[in-house]
This record gives sequence, structure tokens and C-alpha cells, in this order.
Amino acid sequence: MTSTTVPSQLEQFSIAITAGLNRLDLHKQTPIGLYEPASYLMNLGGKRMRPALVLAAYALFKDNFEAALPQALAVELFHNFTLAHDDIMDDAPYRRGKATIHTKWNLNTGILSGDLIMIKAYDELIKCPTNQLAEILKVFNQTAIDVCEGQQLDVDFETSNEVSIEDYLKMISLKTAALLDGSLKIGATRADASAAEIALIGDFGMNLGIAFQLQDDILDAYGDPKRFGKQVGGDIMANKKTYLLLTALQLANTEQLNALHELLNQSINPEEKVEKTLSVFNAIGVKEHALNAMNSYYKKAENALALVDVDEARKATLYSILNSLRVRDI
Ligand code: IPE
Ligand code: IPE
Ligand code: MG
Ligand code: MG
Ligand code: MG
Repeated sequence: MTSTTVPSQLEQFSIAITAGLNRLDLHKQTPIGLYEPASYLMNLGGKRMRPALVLAAYALFKDNFEAALPQALAVELFHNFTLAHDDIMDDAPYRRGKATIHTKWNLNTGILSGDLIMIKAYDELIKCPTNQLAEILKVFNQTAIDVCEGQQLDVDFETSNEVSIEDYLKMISLKTAALLDGSLKIGATRADASAAEIALIGDFGMNLGIAFQLQDDILDAYGDPKRFGKQVGGDIMANKKTYLLLTALQLANTEQLNALHELLNQSINPEEKVEKTLSVFNAIGVKEHALNAMNSYYKKAENALALVDVDEARKATLYSILNSLRVRDI
């Protein structure tokens, strides 16, 4: 006897997103020096969280979620463009468990195939009714500007000793949370939601995004190298001003503070730097502080979603995305 189970809404989204991305046929186009790396990165998988957020925001208000599929593909393309360039900026060897584009090919390939993926994002984004186009472009472009600003702050902070937790939260709001916020707003805009509803759903995205980046920073230091897919310890090697480091600097005793400053200022073997920094982090207990901060932003996200004035049943997929993100290890 065979049994059939109806796919959940999230599974339906995932199937549609995968099929939509496959239809882009990046691997079939030439010159292959441009398209092959773009196709390589797009096909390494990833959680596909941002396109799911577009569709879930649309589905809060309307049933035919396929209508928002092009915009869902657009945000996933844009995200992958940011990853191609972020990996160059962060000197990252791995992404999704495989070599990064600039490592497998070279720097110019990382730049240009990243640019291509960004333009492909616009190709998809504009597939919407004419009366929505200006608003959707406006939200998308503001999101893209925010991401660039956040990325610049992230780089500036590497060489600054004056970064506060508040500065850090502003930086991650821009580099990461803005795209979650933008994805949700675009989905809701496609569904003709009211301005008030769009603002609330954006609030959910902003808090979800802050929680998400706090978790990414925790995983960067404490993740399982076999599961995480990125170089564990990369943030410590690059002197990234993460919540972990900033909290450590704030709570350290004199001896720990001297040790941290020495680790930040001396050029030592990267593995040794990671190991020694983690032992100071552990002595201070910064992971617990970061987890508490992360949980408080997940809670704020839940509270914002609770305020959206639609039937609770329609919110189930967004709650399930939030819950699957908070227990992730990649
Ligand atoms: C990585 O995003 C970049 C950050 C904002 C931390 P994801 O963790 O969503 O990456 P993929 O798409 O699932 O690989
Ligand atoms: C993510 O910051 C921000 C963007 C990619 C725009 P990270 O540098 O922490 O992302 P990962 O850890 O490399 O995925
Ligand atoms: Mg980065
Ligand atoms: Mg990075
Ligand atoms: Mg990271």
C-alpha cells in the first residue's frame, strides 16, 4: 500500500523556487567563463530562506503564491550576488561546503559573475504588474543600498577599536536584516497589502534578520566545521567586530583584555589566533550572551508577526521558517 502526504506550504514554496531557479538555465549560456561560475554558485544550494520569505509574505494575503515567484527568484539571485562579492571581501575559501568562486576560478571571475547574478535578479524582479513596478523597484533598490552600506561598515569595523554593540547592531541591520525585511515587503507589496501591514511585516523581517546574523556570527565561531559549510573561525581571523568579540571586550578582566588586544593587533598563525581567542571567549562566557541576544530578537520577530492582522492560520509558514532558522547549524 502506498501513502501520499500533501506537501506543506513551505515544501510547495521550496519546490517552486528550485524549479524556478532551474529554469534560469545559467549553465547553458556562453561565454562559459562568465556563466559557469554563476551557475556553480546558484547550484550549491543554500537554505533558500529569502525567496521563501517573499512567497510566505505574499501568502499571508493571497492564495496563488506562484504570482510572486519571479520576485522570490530575484531576492535569491541578489543574495547570491552579495555572497560572491562578500567572499572576496572576506577572503573566504569555502561557501556551502565548496570552494568559493574567486578561489576555484579567480578574482575577476568572482567580480564579473557576481555582477551577472545581480543583473539577472533585476530581470526577474520586473516581472510584475506595471502598477506595482515602481514601488517594487524602490523597495529593492533601497534594500540593495542598505546592504552595500552595511558591507562597508563591516569592513571599516575590522580596523576600528571604537565599535560599540549599537554600531554592530546597526551594521547587521543593514548588511543582513535589510534583505529579509525587503524580501517580506516585496512579497506583501505583490499581494497588495496595506502600508500598515507592509510596515509590520518588515518589522518582523528586521528582527528576524538581526537574530539570523547574530546566529551566523555564533556559528562562525562555534559551528561544526563538517556541517557549517564555511571556514569556522573566519570572523576571528579577520578581526570582525562580532557580538561575541564586542561582548568579550566589554566583560574582560585586565588580563583577558590584554590578551584580546594582543590577539587583535599581532600577526600570528590564524589557527592559533582562533584557538586562543576562543579560549578567552569561553572563559568569559560570551556565547551565552550572544545566544540570549539572538533569542531576544527572535522573540521580537514573533511579537511583530503576532500583530499582523490576518488569520493566524495564514502565519503558520512564517512561524515555521522562524523556528527552523533558530535551530539551524548551517
Ligand atoms: C549567508 O546567508 C549570509 C548571511 C547573511 C549570514 P545564508 O546563511 O542564508 O546563506 P545560504 O544561502 O543558506 O547559503
Ligand atoms: C553576510 O555577512 C552579509 C552579506 C553577505 C551581505 P557574512 O560575511 O557574515 O556572511 P557569511 O558568513 O560570509 O555568509
Ligand atoms: Mg562579510
Ligand atoms: Mg562573509
Ligand atoms: Mg558570517
